[in-house]
Amino acid sequence: MNKKITIAIDGFSSTGKSTIAKLLAKKYNYIYVDTGAMYRAVSLFAKQNGLVGADFLDHKKLIANLFNISLSFQYNSKLGFAEMFLNGQNVEKEIRTLEVSQLVSKVATISEVRKKLVAEQQQMGESGGIVMDGRDIGTVVFPNAELKLFMTASADKRATRRYKELMDRGDDVNFDAILFNVQERDQIDSTREDSPLVKADDAIEFDNSDMGIEEQFERICSLVEQKLSEI
Ligand code: DC
Repeated sequence: MNKKITIAIDGFSSTGKSTIAKLLAKKYNYIYVDTGAMYRAVSLFAKQNGLVGADFLDHKKLIANLFNISLSFQYNSKLGFAEMFLNGQNVEKEIRTLEVSQLVSKVATISEVRKKLVAEQQQMGESGGIVMDGRDIGTVVFPNAELKLFMTASADKRATRRYKELMDRGDDVNFDAILFNVQERDQIDSTREDSPLVKADDAIEFDNSDMGIEEQFERICSLVEQKLSEI
C-alpha cells in the first residue's frame, strides 16, 4: 500500500505557499486544500449580504448566518487545481480581489467562523494524503502532521508578487495599496486571539525572499521523501 502523510504549510500572505502546495499535490498525487480560499469565500458571503465593509463587521449576524454558507472545492482539470464554490457558485475569481483581501483578516478573527472551517478542514484531511496551506494548519488543524513548513519573505517581495498576479489577471491595482494590505494582514493574522499565525515548534522555516520556486521545491521534496521513509 502507498504510504501517505499530511503536509501542513503555514506562513504569511503571498509567500508562495499555494504554488508549493500545488506542486507537491501533483507530484505525490495528494489532495490540495487552500484554506485561505475558504476564509475568503466566507468574507465574500458577508460582503454580498452587507455584513462586512471597510469599517464595520456585524459579528452577530454573520455568526447567525453561518449555517447558510456551504463551501466546496471542485477540481478543474484544465487549471489543475480545485476551485472554490460558495453555495453552488464558482467564486474563484471574486475571492481573489483586493477588496476581499481587505476584509478577510477581520472575518478570520471570529472564533465561530474558525470553528466551522477547521472542522471541515479536519474532515477533508481525515485519511492523510493531503497538502493544506493556511495560517493555523500545523498548530490547530493538524498538530500531528508529519511535515510542517513555515514560509516567510519580506513584505516588499510579497507585495511585488501579489501586484504582478493581480495585474496579470487584468485588475486595476496600486502597488502601495497592496503593500499596505500585506502588512495589515500580517499584523491582524499574527495578533488575533484565536489561532494566531505562529510557527509551530516543529515546523521547518523557509525564507524565500531570494529563493526561486525550483530550489525550494527540490528542498521540500527531499523533506517529504525523508518523512515517507520514516513511516
Ligand atoms: O492564504 P490567503 O492569503 O488567501 O488567506 C486569506 C486570509 O484568510 C488571511 O489573511 C488570514 C485568513 N486565514 C486564516 O486565518 N487561517 C487560515 N488557515 C487561512 C487563511
